[in-house]
Amino acid sequence: RKARELKSTSGSSLGVSLLKLSYGDLLKATDGFSASNLIGFGSFGSVYKGVLNQHEERNVAMKVLNLQTSRASKSFISECEALKSIRHRNLVKLLTACSSIDFQGNDFKALVYEFMVNGSLDESLHISAQGVDRPANLPKNLNLTQRVNIAIDVACALDYLHNHSHMPIVHCDIKPNNILLDSDMTACVGDFGLARYLRDASCPSPLHDSSSNVIKGTIGYTPPEYGMGGELSTYGDVYSYGILLLEMLTGKMPTDDMFKGGMDLHNFVITALPDMWKKYMIHYLFK
Ligand SMILES: *[C@@H]1O[C@H](CO)[C@@H](O)[C@H](O)[C@H]1NC(C)=O
Ligand SMILES: *[C@@H]1O[C@H](CO)[C@@H](O)[C@H](O)[C@H]1NC(C)=O
Ligand SMILES: *[C@@H]1O[C@H](CO)[C@@H](O)[C@H](O)[C@H]1NC(C)=O
Repeated sequence: RKARELKSTSGSSLGVSLLKLSYGDLLKATDGFSASNLIGFGSFGSVYKGVLNQHEERNVAMKVLNLQTSRASKSFISECEALKSIRHRNLVKLLTACSSIDFQGNDFKALVYEFMVNGSLDESLHISAQGVDRPANLPKNLNLTQRVNIAIDVACALDYLHNHSHMPIVHCDIKPNNILLDSDMTACVGDFGLARYLRDASCPSPLHDSSSNVIKGTIGYTPPEYGMGGELSTYGDVYSYGILLLEMLTGKMPTDDMFKGGMDLHNFVITALPDMWKKYMIHYLFK
């Protein structure tokens, strides 16, 4: 309700007319984009924590796009397009977009999201993903109940994107780093920088059409068919989700050093299964 009272912004042409924020506001909110407020890297940009105090203090996360890469502007549009018309409890909320010029006269683009206090799933699963200055309050050692609840939340988000938004959306970069945890440990899918609309879920779109560059997800999570010129489809996200589940249950990243010479996360899980299941899985996976 509060957002509606505020005037529309430069982002309004992109449909995300919520808070009005200038380059100066964002500079102030992040203490001059200081390194101490840098909380991570998303697709095509750095993510900062910021505090807005327009009406009341509010923590936000903002992705400042690195416009040196030509795909960054495209990803800004993709993300605004994807997020302007979708709303779900398991998707990170985009508060506004800022497309402006910085004090040196360079183009500046940023996306401002709701701040997720419990960080990314990545940080909760892996010590190595935790920065040295990781706040002590971030959750560690998620128990099985918490992991299952997170898995259900992500599945709900994907079901919504694939089957219940007005046009099917393929996220294209499902991985723990893009799953963010709220104060009550609700999981939200974020970073729509690589997301694509499909005209129709039953009609996959070519990966190399004129409007999109080759899809590059993240190694370990991208389905093998994308690397072989396969078509972009909702099944690609489902593959990434499967990897995410295996990672949540084993605590191993698909890119772990132990996965070399024929051993991969799939095989690692299969070898841990009782014989009866093993035969079934091998039959099912490699038939
Ligand atoms: C998540 O964040 C809230 C608020 O900071 C905190 O009270 C809670 O303990 C955190 N959850 C976990 C599991 O650490
Ligand atoms: C898992 O952790 C949550 C939050 O700390 C707790 O409420 C719950 O009882 C735990 N569940 C189990 C099965 O340990
Ligand atoms: C969602 O869409 C996929 C195809 O993209 C389909 O296989 C699946 O059955 C659908 N799920 C529901 C609940 O409609």
